[in-house]
Amino acid sequence: MTPEVDRPEAASSGSTPAASRTPATPAVPAVDAPPETQDLAWRHRHLLDVDDLTRGELETVMGTADAMREVLARPIAKVPALRGTNVTILFYEASTRTRVSFEAAAKNLSCDVTNIAAASSSVSKGESLVDTVRTVEALGAHMLVMRHNVSGAPYLASEVFGGAVLNGGDGWHAHPSQALLDLFTLRSRLPGRSLEGRKIVILGDALHSRVARSNIWTLTAMGADLWICGPSTLLRGFEGWAARGAAGRRFTVTSDVDAAMRDADVVMALRIQKERMAGGLLPSLREYAARYGLTKERLRLAKPDCIVMHPGPMNEGVEIAADVAVDPRSVITAQVTNGVAVRMALLYLLAGARRAGGNA
Ligand code: MLT
Repeated sequence: MTPEVDRPEAASSGSTPAASRTPATPAVPAVDAPPETQDLAWRHRHLLDVDDLTRGELETVMGTADAMREVLARPIAKVPALRGTNVTILFYEASTRTRVSFEAAAKNLSCDVTNIAAASSSVSKGESLVDTVRTVEALGAHMLVMRHNVSGAPYLASEVFGGAVLNGGDGWHAHPSQALLDLFTLRSRLPGRSLEGRKIVILGDALHSRVARSNIWTLTAMGADLWICGPSTLLRGFEGWAARGAAGRRFTVTSDVDAAMRDADVVMALRIQKERMAGGLLPSLREYAARYGLTKERLRLAKPDCIVMHPGPMNEGVEIAADVAVDPRSVITAQVTNGVAVRMALLYLLAGARRAGGNA
């Protein structure tokens, strides 16, 4: 059921038992009202990764994002829920989708937004991350959305920042809002809004991909049969992860692209992340495209209605053929659009936890 987000009387008081495998009915936030007035099934003050979110908490994010999507469908897609909240967006790496999407999400919730591009800030004069974060807080930020090329940087920021930190991507490590918007997109496309038993293939440069790492947690938590596929040089470490597997999670790692694609319900192509790649991992992009690129021919091995995803930015003709990117089965544009609703939900939930003194 889609929660109604702006009518206080629609709020329910469900709570989610920790680590529950059964999706709980999420508490319904009424987002015209500030989040501290709601009984939200959410305890996290920061969003650093998705590895510690229970299935119930994932459902809470999804339900809140459903509500935000309804807000976005209104003639004026704006609610006053977070009026008076200052959001600073601090990006040390290039971004279009994630940065603009967080900014749109914050503005739709009536936050005041400040953007800082590290290249044009005091960071370029040698200021440390800790000093920058303290400065941003002294200037009045309540929530900090940050992207950093070093894995773990948002964890450090969360130790010194008094408000909420949202990780907009750190190194190779995590990209939690991307994984959540991917989950939201799949949930709205798959029959019964369920990933249970669905064969989902992540194809490409998993080694350098924070998107793959965060998606592994969310997709397996929701019961998907997850396959990671690419050249063996770009799968290092993933076999061990799959072998250790958390109880009940299905996770296969292979370089056999035909086996991965056969009867797939979903395929998510990943960009070859040249900027994070040391030499010698791939013979050439041309050979990579020929052996692992997502083409119409490869897609024929999958189920006829296989959903095609890509987190962007795409290198068409390398990891995905141009005609596949715009195929009717592609939800790549929907992923971008859904990112705004999901990030609104995250800001809303974290603002609620921050005001209630959330712990994690
Ligand atoms: C990321 O920031 O990791 C992107 O969304 C995916 C990519 O860079 O390929």
